[in-house]
Amino acid sequence: MKYSQLTFENPNCKPAPPHLRRDQIIAKLKENFDFENAHLRSSSNNEGEGVLSKCYGYEAPDQAKDLGIYPYFREIEAMNGAHVTIGGRDVITVSSNNYLGLTNDPRVVEAGKTALEKFGTGCTGSRFLNGTLSLHKKLEKDISHFLKRDDTIVMSTGYQANQGTISCLLGRKDIAFSDRENHASIYEGCAVAAGKTVRFRHNDMDHLEYCLKKYRGVEGKLIITDSVFSMSGDIANLPGIVKLARDYKASILVDEAHGMGVMGEAGRGVTSYYNLEKEIDIYVGTFSKSMGSIGGFVSAHPKITEYIRHKASAFIFTAALPPASVAGVNTALNIMIQEPERIRQLHNNAAYMKKGLFDMGFQINNNPIPIIPIKIGDEALTLYFNQLLFDNGVFAGVAVSPVVPAFHAMIRTSYTSAHTQEDLDHVLHTFKIIGTDLGIISQ
Ligand SMILES: Cc1ncc(COP(=O)(O)O)c(C=O)c1O
Repeated sequence: MKYSQLTFENPNCKPAPPHLRRDQIIAKLKENFDFENAHLRSSSNNEGEGVLSKCYGYEAPDQAKDLGIYPYFREIEAMNGAHVTIGGRDVITVSSNNYLGLTNDPRVVEAGKTALEKFGTGCTGSRFLNGTLSLHKKLEKDISHFLKRDDTIVMSTGYQANQGTISCLLGRKDIAFSDRENHASIYEGCAVAAGKTVRFRHNDMDHLEYCLKKYRGVEGKLIITDSVFSMSGDIANLPGIVKLARDYKASILVDEAHGMGVMGEAGRGVTSYYNLEKEIDIYVGTFSKSMGSIGGFVSAHPKITEYIRHKASAFIFTAALPPASVAGVNTALNIMIQEPERIRQLHNNAAYMKKGLFDMGFQINNNPIPIIPIKIGDEALTLYFNQLLFDNGVFAGVAVSPVVPAFHAMIRTSYTSAHTQEDLDHVLHTFKIIGTDLGIISQ
């Protein structure tokens, strides 16, 4: 079915006014959005007004809803692998990070149920004081063993693992050297830390070296990078980072949120892919992607983990990861190790989509990562494209400024081992029709 035959059906939006045609909608969007200065323009500049006036003057989400292109907070009524139900309609999701399709695995669900019955719904306290369960300790042991690391701390989210670790390690005289495309939790950890942060250009080893040289005299240096960048799907240049860390006597923290379960031997991440496991001082991970749940962890030398355990506010002053999640993650980890065909299928699916999209004329990142951003550039066009995908049964992510620089807007797609051939072909077909009709690719 051709998208232009469809009406806007997003249950979270008012239907687009029928008298507005596609180019008028895009023109109207451009009028309303100021992507350089704010995500969605506020009608009030708040100068000299009360703290809350910015909220009352913030109308852009409503404007986007009126135009029928609001892409956020879609209400999912059911989830099953690569399919979700929204507004009573079955759609294929290409926006989830459930890389190994484990969220609905009966064994993972059963492990969660058993833990729920044995321990109840939550720990109602922090790991530090009263929330450390035998389940947490077992998972920590299993992760350490899997990653061949000495010790691991399981935390409540990956966000807190980054934020808590970085903020407690960076002392007043220390400097973090952080890739500009690092995750928000790394930015946040650096912002809260007492030490200074220097941001190096994305994956640019010459610039990192320039920065390290500039602060050569500083003793405490920590290079921080995502192993796989969540928006672009780029892989960090870990060999380059390791070399510079040696030359300039810096430590290294790698966030393997999108690397674990995807890259390296048995899914050990990009550090394993490059055979650099021994060179990385701190390995941070999350359970919200390949492990299909929630939670995060830090693996490092026991002297480092013991320090973090007693100093990281984001770990100490928050409730422990609940029993059902911990047990589910532990089972997911075991399944990942025992069923390597999942990772193979994931890579086959990613390669199939990259080839298909590339052959159509879209700009595609050329690596094995299952994150495929479709670069559109123009924000209004991107939001409109995204809505048309949704109307045609494809639920993709969208990244506009300030998540990406202004006029670098993209549709963010990600693939899993759970996508079937039929799913992937439907997604490709939909991209082709809409991309052609919007003039982004030619027929
Ligand atoms: C690179 C990266 N690091 C950390 C996180 C945070 O993980 P979590 O969802 O466990 O808080 C994310 C999640 O979006 C991520 O993409």
